[in-house]
Amino acid sequence: MTDEQLLALAREAAEKAYAPYSKFQVGCAIESIDGDVVSGANVENACYRLGLCAEQSALAAAQHKFGLEKITRIAVVGGTDATVCTPCGGCRQAILEAAQLSGRDVEILCASGDGSAADRYKIGELIPNGFGPANLGLPG
Ligand code: THU
Repeated sequence: MTDEQLLALAREAAEKAYAPYSKFQVGCAIESIDGDVVSGANVENACYRLGLCAEQSALAAAQHKFGLEKITRIAVVGGTDATVCTPCGGCRQAILEAAQLSGRDVEILCASGDGSAADRYKIGELIPNGFGPANLGLPG
């Protein structure tokens, strides 16, 4: 799958967000090393702090479909303007878990809601010197 196709799936997922409070819809698509893909969107709650980010909802789906350790590439799209939507700090930490499990520096494609801008990162750039399963002796 091309970067554009994975971003298109993230964009499609954003349309299914439940974001009545922030009105900021985010979608995430995750690809495995075998080419399987899952997606997720943010799911907010009247108790604001219980809201779930798109990345976390897609990571849960990835674990169920193929396992976190098989994740190779992640696309994130959010908002409506030209600002590129990058994963929040918590989501970076959640992605780092998958990256350290596999020993792979997972690629993250980030795009703006209006489709005019996109950037490419590795999780190691977004959360350098992060704490993860490797610190606790798990594979990685
Ligand atoms: N959000 C995500 O889904 N992912 C991020 O990485 C940044 C923020 C969501 C959370 C909340 O529902 C809305 O965007 C506004 O913060």
